[in-house]
Order: sequence, then C-alpha cells, then structure tokens
Amino acid sequence: MTVSRRDFMRAAARTGVAAASLTILGSTAKGAGKTYRVALIGSGGRGGGALEQHVAAAKVLNDALNLGITIQVVAVGDFFKDRAEGTGKRYGVPADKCFGGADNYKKVLEVPGDTVLMAQAPVFRPLHFEAAIQAGRNVFTEKPVAVDPAGCRRVIEAGKLAKQKNLLVVAGTQRRHEPGYNRQAALIKEGALGKVIGGRVAWNMGKIFHNNPMNPKTPADLCRGGNWQLWIEMSGDHICEQHVHNLDIANWFVGRPPVSAAAFGGRARRKAGNMYDFFSGDLDYGQGVHIHSMCRQVGGCWDWVGESFVYEKQAPAGFELKEPIAYADVPHPRGFGGHQQEHVDMLYFLAKGLELNEAQNVAESTAVAIMVRDAAYTGKMITWEEMMLDPKKNPEVYNRQRRPVAEDFEKEDCPLPKDGDAPIPGTA
Ligand SMILES: NC(=O)c1ccc[n+]([C@@H]2O[C@H](COP(=O)([O-])OP(=O)(O)OC[C@H]3O[C@@H](n4cnc5c(N)ncnc54)[C@H](O)[C@@H]3O)[C@@H](O)[C@H]2O)c1
Repeated sequence: MTVSRRDFMRAAARTGVAAASLTILGSTAKGAGKTYRVALIGSGGRGGGALEQHVAAAKVLNDALNLGITIQVVAVGDFFKDRAEGTGKRYGVPADKCFGGADNYKKVLEVPGDTVLMAQAPVFRPLHFEAAIQAGRNVFTEKPVAVDPAGCRRVIEAGKLAKQKNLLVVAGTQRRHEPGYNRQAALIKEGALGKVIGGRVAWNMGKIFHNNPMNPKTPADLCRGGNWQLWIEMSGDHICEQHVHNLDIANWFVGRPPVSAAAFGGRARRKAGNMYDFFSGDLDYGQGVHIHSMCRQVGGCWDWVGESFVYEKQAPAGFELKEPIAYADVPHPRGFGGHQQEHVDMLYFLAKGLELNEAQNVAESTAVAIMVRDAAYTGKMITWEEMMLDPKKNPEVYNRQRRPVAEDFEKEDCPLPKDGDAPIPGTA
C-alpha cells in the first residue's frame, strides 16, 4: 500500500470536490443532514490529505444517499503556526483559529467542534488523542498511535472512554476499509479457509528520508517534517511508521495479538537520527502459528510490501459468504482506495449513529511493531504479557520509554536525542 494522494486528487476531480476558499464544504444534497465541525492537528502531507478526503467523503455520501452532510473546518493546529495557517487559509479558517507551538492541540480543542483529524508526529498521538476524547470529539487518527508500550495502553484506555461517550474512532490503518481485505477477513470468519497457520508480512523499500546527521538544537528541529521520522522518540522507528500496516493485517487475520517476539535489526546505512534501517522478527501467535515480520528502508535491496498467509485449507469452489462484508452498505466510489474510503465509512457511521471504534486494533498493531522493535533493540525475546498486560512481570519492558516524551515539549527544558545514538542489542 502506498500513499495515494494522486489517486485522491483524481477521485476528487471525478466527484467534483473543490477544496479552495470554502468554509461549508461537501453539501450538495437536499437531505436534512448535519454540519460537522472538523479540526485538524498536524497539518503536513497526510493531514492535508486527510482533510481533503474527509470533505470529499461528505460529497460522496450526499450524492449517493442524499445525507445532506456539511463539513465546516473550524480550527487547524501544527507545531509550526505557518503550516497551520497555510492549511487554514484553504478552508476559510480565520488566522486566530490556526495554532502553533507544542500546546496547539489544547487551543484547537478549545474551539467548539465535533471531529478531530490527527496526523502529527506519532509521539504526540496518545496525549492528543486522549485530550480529544476527553473533550468529546470523534477522532480520525493516523497510525502509528504511539511510540512506546505506555502510549499504546493510553490509547486503548482513551478508546474505551470514547465508547462510553458514543464517540467514533477511525484509524489510518486503511486496509481495514478496503473491500478486498474485508472479503478475505469474512472468508476466514466464516470458516472457508480454516485458520491462519503461518505467514509473512513486510514493508521493504528504499531510503525515503535525508541521511545527514541533524544535531538537533531545539525541539522544533525534531518536529519538522522529514526530521521527526528519523528519531525513535518521535516516530517509533520505521517499523512503527510503516510496517504497522502489515502487522495490523496479521493481528486481524490471525484473530489475536502475538504471544511473543524475537527479532534482529540494525543500522546498516543510516547516518541521520538514531533509528534502525532494517528489522526481521519472528512473531509467535501461539498454537504453533508463526508470522515472519520484515521491514527495511535501504536502497538497492529486495523490495516487497504486503502480507501472505498459509491457511488450513482452500475455500471450497463456489463458496458464498453468508453475511455481507464490513461496510457493504457504504458507497464505494470507483477508484477510491482505503485512504479515501475510511473517511466515507467514518462519516456514514457518524451520520447513521452507528458504532465504530478502531482504537484497540490500531493500538495493538502499534504495540506489535514496538514489541518486534524492542526485541531487536535489546536482543531479548519479549512477551505480550510483560509488555502490555502485567506491570509486575517485567517492569523494565512494560515501562520502557525514551525522552523526550510528548509532555516534555511543553516544558522549558526539553531533552534532545543525539544522532547515531542507536540501541545496541545485548547491552541494555
Ligand atoms: N495511512 C497512511 O498510509 C499514511 C500515509 C502517510 C502518512 N501517514 C501518517 O501520518 C503521519 C504524518 O505523516 P506526514 O507524511 O503527513 O508527515 P509530515 O511531516 O508531512 O506532517 C506532520 C506534521 O505534523 C506536524 N507536527 C509535528 N509535531 C506536532 C505537534 N506536536 N502538534 C501538531 N503538529 C505537529 C509537523 O510540523 C508536520 O506539519 C505519520 O504518522 C504517518 O505515518 C499515514
């Protein structure tokens, strides 16, 4: 799965979405619909794309089902105020509702609203997600949702609160909104394939970020796009940033998170930041089921992004599903990939008053990425129980956290990591 901004623009052009100079967007039908007041936190490439797709989704639903939804963009936040203002301007958001600085999320949440889309650097997501749910917002959150086990647990807890408050949570693990994956999940659920008995999942590609040591001097140096991706503290490493998509499918299709992980990894070519550039791990899902997890950001090597599984059996010829696949009732415009469809699904569920909460799924998939990562960093096998469930079993694993954490950015004295200071297995 690749970022398909170009696909979106094509689809948007087809559906006639105009994203410029509008404050009320998406309203083309006469239905007695609702206005959703939407804010964005993290106004970079994906944040801007998600906002466009949210607006496009309203138009899709209005045109197909006459839902009469309108989207009003009410506030934009980014670490850098000019970035927030740049996006705000495109949607008619006044400059005094566009916020910068480490506390931008607090100011965004003070503006009355219904939904928050978030695509900031991942270290901030548990804090911002929890604050958004506490403030009563429906949330679309990009993945990964955390960079350490504590962050994953915080998102799971905030997700439970969202359920109690009848708030929707949709995550940027967009494969869960693609009909092909949903059909496969339905075949597994209805027993056509038996159980998953093994497999491999991977995100192997070339280098995508600059490779010059940064010597960060201020927190802003860490937050800038193209920089934050290179730091374990900010992105959780590329295994969290990218491979989480494939690990999410493994959890979904096997039907549970793994029992343990053992892994290798290293920094073969990277000079910037402190993260690794390759990982290879064995995920033990229990009951004899093992999945090989791999990811790499090194050029000139074998590239493969995907998931393949071995099942107990093949689907019988002519097998027909008894139940419709997930989201079968929601319009699926031709050419819409998961990136766009997740917003159509979200708005449909919101407008119909249906429950949709992906917090636990995405937090667990993020936690699996962290489990493989920390197994590689330390050279130790790590169990799900010690990392996620039992604070007493191995407190070092359960509480492992690197600084700066999100809250540090709002203090005077924010600790800064050093280039090249990467974990060395066997020494921790
Ligand atoms: N689902 C997908 O396939 C997909 C595709 C691309 C990106 N993403 C995810 O979206 C997220 C953003 O990626 P991107 O490519 O847009 O990166 P980006 O660097 O273009 O954007 C991130 C933005 O967040 C801002 N930011 C940093 N710290 C912040 C803070 N404390 N508060 C508010 N804003 C802050 C940055 O200034 C930047 O504008 C990543 O987690 C990435 O994994 C997901």
